Amino acid sequence: MAQTKADIRSFYWRDDTLHILDQRRLPALETWLILDSAAQVVDAIRDMCVRGAPAIGIVAAYGVVLSARTQTGKPMALQQRAILADMDSLAQARPTAVNLRWALQRMRYILEQHSPPSVAALLAEARAIHRQDIEQNQRMAAAGSALIVPESVVLTHCNTGSLATGAHGTALGVIRNAWRAGSIRRIFATETRPWLQGARLTAWELARDGIPATLIIDAAAAVTMQREHVGWIIVGADRIAANGDVANKIGTYALAVMARHHGARFMVVAPSSSVDMRIPDGGHIPIEYRDHEEIWKAAGLESPLPGIDARNPAFDITPAELVDMLVTERGIIEKPGRENMAKMFENVG
Ligand code: MRU
Repeated sequence: MAQTKADIRSFYWRDDTLHILDQRRLPALETWLILDSAAQVVDAIRDMCVRGAPAIGIVAAYGVVLSARTQTGKPMALQQRAILADMDSLAQARPTAVNLRWALQRMRYILEQHSPPSVAALLAEARAIHRQDIEQNQRMAAAGSALIVPESVVLTHCNTGSLATGAHGTALGVIRNAWRAGSIRRIFATETRPWLQGARLTAWELARDGIPATLIIDAAAAVTMQREHVGWIIVGADRIAANGDVANKIGTYALAVMARHHGARFMVVAPSSSVDMRIPDGGHIPIEYRDHEEIWKAAGLESPLPGIDARNPAFDITPAELVDMLVTERGIIEKPGRENMAKMFENVG
């Protein structure tokens, strides 16, 4: 049996700096950025050098460590004020993924335990957030892959693998494990317009791991479900509301509607750090609208044509009633709804 490759790590802390694999350049170039200030981390998240809900939460936590390092030696009151200001900028770098706010809340708690701020304690917490995310992904991958029967055909959207998390991935972690267990016959990955997370990042991760997959354009999902006996659509989440509604990459909602029509089952894989129990339903989840330029560039254009506007929502909301399984590190919820969500996540944000 071929040896399993170790999971990619797309960011790590070394020599008091944060090293990030620049996802804008993949798969053509593997360029590493070395960041030494919170402002650089804000830019890296906003510009999508690093993306994926769990990944941006962890990286933001390391951003707080960088902020505290920069303040060392300054008057105590100024230190905490400056770090809190950096935390605000980090929180605003991307609005939809709640993991960002969740990780910053954990860092804020540690910040408030020490006066003056302790860089060592903040670094220990950022490392713990990172380590726990990887452990949770392993747990979800084991639980989710056990739901997949032999000879299954699966379809995934966006990138939810090692690049989007601490390592291994959420939805892609489930697919990795199920592939290694021999339960998957074929994997379809959507290209994920306009940023092409599927075509560039998921394809890169799977190719690197020697896992074969078929890339399709987003608009080919329906015909693929109609003709290829797709059994599962498996996706991640950026935020899950208290009633089980799921915010995820634009196009996820369409896949869920199509899955219901074609009898495919719909699995969402996400850690509890993606659950926001303060948000009653998907209608209250802030949706990020990104620059129109992403659409023009994907079409090979330098600028918009006269009189043509564009709209570029980066996420959509899949109603809970279209979700068959929600896989988290705490366990699996079949048909998520207000009651079973409250039971499993009563002590989450
Ligand atoms: O805009 P992105 O690339 O950050 O969007 C990523 C997604 O939508 C993922 O599906 C989600 O963050 C879950 S990743 C484990």
